[in-house]
Amino acid sequence: MGSVSLKIGEGTARFKRVSVCSSAVNLLMLFSVITTNLFAWFAFSYHPKTLHNHHYPENISLISERVSLILREIESSQKKLAQMEKQILGYESIDLSRPNIANELKEFLNSHQLPLGKDSRTGITEMVASVGHSCEKSADLLSQYMSYKVNGLCPDDWSLGQKLILQGCEPLPRRRCFAKTLPKVGLQPFPFSLWKNVSEKIYSWSGLGCKNLACLNSKNLNRDCAGCFDIVHGYETQKYVKARSKNDFLIDDVLAMGSGGTRIGFDIGGGSGTFAARMAERNVTVVTATLNIDAPFNEFIASRGLFPLYLSLDQRFPFYDNVYDLVHAANGLDVGGQPEKLEFLMFDIDRILRAGGLLWLDNFYCSTDDKKRALTRLIERFGYKKLKWVVGERVNGSGKSEVYLSAVLQKPVRV
Ligand SMILES: *[C@@H]1O[C@H](CO)[C@@H](O)[C@H](O)[C@H]1NC(C)=O
Ligand SMILES: *[C@@H]1O[C@H](CO)[C@@H](O)[C@H](O)[C@H]1NC(C)=O
Ligand SMILES: *[C@@H]1O[C@H](CO)[C@@H](O)[C@H](O)[C@H]1NC(C)=O
Ligand SMILES: *[C@@H]1O[C@H](CO)[C@@H](O)[C@H](O)[C@H]1NC(C)=O
Repeated sequence: MGSVSLKIGEGTARFKRVSVCSSAVNLLMLFSVITTNLFAWFAFSYHPKTLHNHHYPENISLISERVSLILREIESSQKKLAQMEKQILGYESIDLSRPNIANELKEFLNSHQLPLGKDSRTGITEMVASVGHSCEKSADLLSQYMSYKVNGLCPDDWSLGQKLILQGCEPLPRRRCFAKTLPKVGLQPFPFSLWKNVSEKIYSWSGLGCKNLACLNSKNLNRDCAGCFDIVHGYETQKYVKARSKNDFLIDDVLAMGSGGTRIGFDIGGGSGTFAARMAERNVTVVTATLNIDAPFNEFIASRGLFPLYLSLDQRFPFYDNVYDLVHAANGLDVGGQPEKLEFLMFDIDRILRAGGLLWLDNFYCSTDDKKRALTRLIERFGYKKLKWVVGERVNGSGKSEVYLSAVLQKPVRV
């Protein structure tokens, strides 16, 4: 009960909970390294001369016995080290034996034997539930999330789920309750739905500061969504078809650069879905990845007849390699200023983009010159062809000049 199988990616690993704090583990590791080295030193400096003095000469069997003992010791130390390394990296199981763990969480995480025994095609004998390994860090919140009435209505707690996701607990466990439903009255048929207001009663406002669209529009929710919920009169109606500055590229210009046609695209952090809407008008299918940070982005995008993908950027994109014709990203790419994080993200974008496909970096805010240089270096390492590259300045609301980078880059063929 103290350990559980977590499914991470395609593999299943078995993890054990440790109650030692990581500095103690570090000390232990150090100790382990020293002992291992001492043993090794002992093994190699164990001169036959010493043997000569105290034991029978040329007793090869004794020496080989000792050497194999030392080798076994080294091997076991290495195993211990690997185990500790795993634990330091945070690969711990969720301890299901601790108090206050919701029953449903145990039920979900315990592996279940396949009812008909071993599956002949895959060789799998049991089903293993997936939950992000970082969920362990938020075990109390997770337990709260998993406390509900089975077969009943779920608590109205989507924001709790999102909080867990933002803490790296992704994927979330499944639940056996019915999520709150809202009557979706007044949905428009496609393509009229792209630019039509619908009643704001069809969105879920629980857990949000704003309780209506007017409130959302009055706020700068993020750099890519200033008034982005006004799709009838607002700036949204001009985005991608009329340029405000040389950093704003027009959709038709970018589409003309693509070779082999642009049929499917992926928008990262796409606000209220306007990029996907403009693409839909050009018969290009775009999936918009967004969470619901401070606004019901997913429901809004869906009500426009577009495809919302509820996913944090910390997770590997759920797409196969080389499938997208286009990836559009703006400030959603800003992953908290951690260069390694951005690098992992860029590699994943590169992975899903097909050779000859386009990466459109749209008005990416470079807060410092260093940031701009780091991003430029990173992009250049990928060897993309720069079809368009514009660094521009814009004066913001409080009279400060800000630097933005816009670019259209073409993925090369790598052999
Ligand atoms: C060598 O050591 C082994 C084990 O200690 C012992 O049984 C054996 O008698 C020794 N051989 C000789 C030739 O002394
Ligand atoms: C559509 O909704 C916005 C709020 O997002 C509001 O400002 C606007 O007046 C509405 N337009 C119409 C035609 O109802
Ligand atoms: C999109 O597809 C429809 C139906 O095939 C077609 O009538 C329309 O002209 C296309 N629009 C564009 C911009 O290609
Ligand atoms: C303008 O930029 C400055 C410095 O980057 C920032 O502190 C300020 O909040 C910005 N103002 C607005 C309205 O975005």
